Amino acid sequence: MLRITIDGPAGAGKSTVARELAQILGYTYLDTGAMYRTLALAALREGISADDEPNLATLLSHLDLRFERGRIRLGDEDVADELRAPAVDRIVSRVAAHPRVRAAFVSRQRELAQGGGVVVDGRDAGTVVLPDAECKFFLTASLDARAARRHREMRSQGVRASIDDVRREMAERDSLDEMRAVGALRVPDAALVVDTTGLGVAQVVAELAAACRAKGA
Ligand code: DC
Repeated sequence: MLRITIDGPAGAGKSTVARELAQILGYTYLDTGAMYRTLALAALREGISADDEPNLATLLSHLDLRFERGRIRLGDEDVADELRAPAVDRIVSRVAAHPRVRAAFVSRQRELAQGGGVVVDGRDAGTVVLPDAECKFFLTASLDARAARRHREMRSQGVRASIDDVRREMAERDSLDEMRAVGALRVPDAALVVDTTGLGVAQVVAELAAACRAKGA
């Protein structure tokens, strides 16, 4: 049972590809972005600023976050849809930049990945969380392609936003994710880099699945 990591910027198709790859291989999908988003949502609800590291760390230590059948729950509440709200998008990179927040989530992620048979998607999955994972991928795509995907996803959820705003916010989020001191987005050593611009999900999943099978998945 291998450990598979998929990193890359927002909108590169990581979560869709990771979910399908996990399904094909019979592995568990671990969406680490959803963990940071859940903390951002809880902070919004509690009125805690995205820049308030001590209170975010306290909030995180009490956070009753669970994955159940592919949905994420905060206590008894299914928050999977609310995690994609624009208000969460706007602050999540700032929430995720705090070293204490990252350290706590990274250790939870390592516990969840123990034993293998996991597909972990994120920004630092192959660099920090599981640097010795057997199979590492870095998915990327042009900013226009990524913004168009995110815009389509938002419209299908009934969220109205202009494509220009989506592109601008995405570029801001990318630079925060790339520039932060801890767990910055970068290509992991030995990762297979796949540019998904113009590729369909099925093509990308097939390429990744073939690479994983070649390593014994
Ligand atoms: O993959 P996503 O869009 O759901 O991620 C949401 C935010 O969380 C994104 O701005 C980057 C951050 N993130 C992170 O810092 N580290 C991770 N392992 C996953 C996500």
